[in-house]
Amino acid sequence: MTSAPSSFTSSPFVGKTFGVTVSHLNKQYGRTTVLSDISFEVRPGEIFCIMGPSGSGKSVLLKHIAGLETATSGEVRIGDFDAADPATRDKVHLALVFQAGALFNSLSVYDNLALYPREHRLCNEAGIRDKVMHALSILSLEKAARKFPSELSGGMKKRVAIARALVMEPQLLLYDEPTSELDPVMSATLSEIIATLREQTAVTSIVVTHDRDLAINIADRIAIIMDGKIRAMGPTADFKAPQDPAIANFLTPVIDLKNPRFKQLENSHE
Ligand SMILES: Nc1ncnc2c1ncn2[C@@H]1O[C@H](COP(=O)(O)OP(=O)(O)O)[C@@H](O)[C@H]1O
Ligand SMILES: [Mg+2]
Repeated sequence: MTSAPSSFTSSPFVGKTFGVTVSHLNKQYGRTTVLSDISFEVRPGEIFCIMGPSGSGKSVLLKHIAGLETATSGEVRIGDFDAADPATRDKVHLALVFQAGALFNSLSVYDNLALYPREHRLCNEAGIRDKVMHALSILSLEKAARKFPSELSGGMKKRVAIARALVMEPQLLLYDEPTSELDPVMSATLSEIIATLREQTAVTSIVVTHDRDLAINIADRIAIIMDGKIRAMGPTADFKAPQDPAIANFLTPVIDLKNPRFKQLENSHE
């Protein structure tokens, strides 16, 4: 990794971080099985990327880790705590950066970031201001403090969403598609931000993405989910030239105009 911006070195966000253990997790909605016997362990301080095609169950899996969904069977543990137990949220500072940012449009950037410490009465307004401005400065967003989400570009919204997560002083950071809808340069910037945050705060980071460049550049390990099952898992180097044709086709799809996929799909339905 290249050296980090100096603003990180004084980060107050350094603290205890947690590993995550997912054991035989199954999730059904009605009769539809979305996750099937998912097991893996994320080590404290690791960047673990979960990849897979759209609809493969990545966001549902992340919601189980965040305690926002209840498993049909199996369990998720954050350190020694049960992720599904509401009391865990008092013991682990967990921040989830949603796919679309999930900012409140009626609030300024500053107030979006101040919401969590205000609601949880973490400190007085002066203390909140320090936390918010520090998080904004880490992401070079100081000038956006008084703007509203509708005035921001897609890349800025993602950075605000990460800044808001930082205000929570997370011990576990979960990202859902942090680079979706971003141009390649902004995607690379986001990759640098995620990797630098981990480097400076040692925070365990679980990143759901179908952005191959993001995963290959920043992950320590990668798991690929297909149809709700783990198809492959291992160190990032294993995924640079995968042998499994389904994984190769997912990570580096070849455009074949002579035998296009949509025609293959049509034929398979006949
Ligand atoms: N609350 C829900 N109720 C029923 N089905 C759901 C629900 N949430 C997700 N699903 C289904 O689970 C599957 C996996 O969804 P998701 O995890 O969002 O996929 P992705 O890998 O694209 O993030 C999809 O088929 C989706 O329709
Ligand atoms: Mg998703």
